[in-house]
Amino acid sequence: SLPVQSVQELVRRDPSSVPERYIRDHAERPKDRGVVSAITPDIPVIDFSLLSGGHEDERKRLDLACKEWGFFQIINHGVEEDLLCRIRKAMGGFFNLSYVEKKKYAMAPNDVHGYGQIFVVSEEQKLDWSDLLYIIVEPTEQRRMKYWPIIVPDFKDAVDMYSTKIKRIAEELLGNISLLMNMKRDELLAMHGTWKLSMRMNYYPPCSRPDDVLGVSPHSDGSSITILLQEDDIPGLQIKYKGEWIPVKPIPNALVINIGDSLEALSNGMYESIEHRALTNKDSARMSLATFVNPDENADIGPVDQMIDEIHRPRMYKTVKNIDFLRHFFSKKLEGKTSTHVLKLDNT
Ligand code: SIN
Ligand code: FE2
Repeated sequence: SLPVQSVQELVRRDPSSVPERYIRDHAERPKDRGVVSAITPDIPVIDFSLLSGGHEDERKRLDLACKEWGFFQIINHGVEEDLLCRIRKAMGGFFNLSYVEKKKYAMAPNDVHGYGQIFVVSEEQKLDWSDLLYIIVEPTEQRRMKYWPIIVPDFKDAVDMYSTKIKRIAEELLGNISLLMNMKRDELLAMHGTWKLSMRMNYYPPCSRPDDVLGVSPHSDGSSITILLQEDDIPGLQIKYKGEWIPVKPIPNALVINIGDSLEALSNGMYESIEHRALTNKDSARMSLATFVNPDENADIGPVDQMIDEIHRPRMYKTVKNIDFLRHFFSKKLEGKTSTHVLKLDNT
C-alpha cells in the first residue's frame, strides 16, 4: 500500500478541510442521508445462545440469514458487556495516542500489518476517511508484536480475552454452517487448516462533508466470516441489499457477522459475500473492530464436494490456494465484489 496521511491528523489540524482526494465521484457519494430509517428493513438477528444450544429452528434461521442477507447480528453471544467496554477503551486508547507515538506502529511499505491505511495502490484513487490498525491475533505464534501498542493500558489483555471469546463464536458459527453445507460439524473448520484471526481496528474522524466522502469504500471481505463490533449509538455501516444501500442499525452489545469471499467459494455460491461500506458523520468520531476468520494460507479455497450438484448446482468457482487469493485481494483497491472474479469459473 502507498503511504497516505492520517485522516485523524488532518482533522486535528483543520476540522473543516476535506482534500480533493477524499471527495467521491457523484455516483459513489452517500446520497441516502435523511431517508426515514423506519422504511428500511433490518438485517436478521440470530440468538447465539439458541444456536449453541443446538436449536434446530435457530440453525434454519441462520441458513436463511446467510442466504438472503449474508449479514446478520448476533445477540446473547456470551461476550460480557464489560469486555466489550474494555476492548473499545483499548482501541480508543490507541487512536488517542499522539501521532508521534502511533507512528511507531506504522505499516511498512508493501505490508498490511500495523497502523496506516491499506488498499491504496495509486496516487489517483479516492481515499477512505479513516485510519486503521491491523494486527494478527491467532495463532499466537504468528503475532508480530512490534505492531501491538502494548503501552496502551489493558490493550493486550483486552485483545487476548476478546479474541478468545471470538474464537469460540467463530467455531460455533462455522460448525453450524458446516452442518448447513451437508458436512459434519467440524469439517468446514478442518478445511480451514490452521485458521487465522486478524483484527482491523477502524477510526473514522468526524467529517465536515459526510455526504461527499466514504469512511470505507464499498467492498466484500476476503475472509470466510467476519465478526464486527461497532458502536452502540453511532451508525455508519451500510450493506448493499437488493441494489440499495441500507444501514445496519446498531443493537447495543450485539456483534455483526458477515459472509466473506472464501465462504462464498467454499459453499459454491450458496452463501454470498455482500458488499458493504462505512459512512462518516459531522459530529462524532466512530470506531469499529472487524475480526476476520481466514483459512490457512495453504488451504484450498473452492467448492466443497457436498455443495456441487451436476444438475442443480454445478461448480461455479475454481479451487485456489488461499495465499494466492489473498495476494490478489490485497494488491488492488477496495472496489465492490471484484475479488470474487478471480475465484469464479469463466463460464459463470
Ligand atoms: C469494514 O467493513 O471494514 C468496516 C465496517 C464498519 O466500520 O462498520
Ligand atoms: Fe468489511
